[in-house]
Amino acid sequence: MKITLTINNTKREVEISPSEFLLDVLRRLNYSSVKKGCDTGTCGVCTVLMDGKPVLSCSILAASADGHEITTIEGIEKDPEFKNISNALLEEGADQCGFCSPGLILNVYAMGKELKNPTEDEIKKYLVGNLCRCTGYVPQLRAIKKYFEVKA
Ligand code: FES
Ligand code: FES
Repeated sequence: MKITLTINNTKREVEISPSEFLLDVLRRLNYSSVKKGCDTGTCGVCTVLMDGKPVLSCSILAASADGHEITTIEGIEKDPEFKNISNALLEEGADQCGFCSPGLILNVYAMGKELKNPTEDEIKKYLVGNLCRCTGYVPQLRAIKKYFEVKA
């Protein structure tokens, strides 16, 4: 079957199988920032934005994304907010192996559109699905708080 996705502001017609998940379609189309981790909706590394909201692309059938706007890291890398989030993560040592970073950055980016000055609890709640095996979360939390302090 054929679907239409607008990926990073570019409309694309894509041939998919009805049982294919959005994650596999995006990786097949070479959006390599979208990572495959657990593949069961638990780890958050496959996060993309659908119509501006974070979703787990391993848990969404590509067919149900038909007609929607999908944003990956490749789509925000020229946005100054991407640089600001990445710099805060680097400065606080919150970006080690980097496997969780694309999903984390997209979540923080979306949070920044939704919340002006989130509390620590709001940050934790927003990021609860972003697992990281390297940092222990403390540097990430510090980096995200710093990002929002500078942004405010
Ligand atoms: S790969 Fe999608 S949540 Fe882990
Ligand atoms: S930095 Fe390695 S999984 Fe998060």
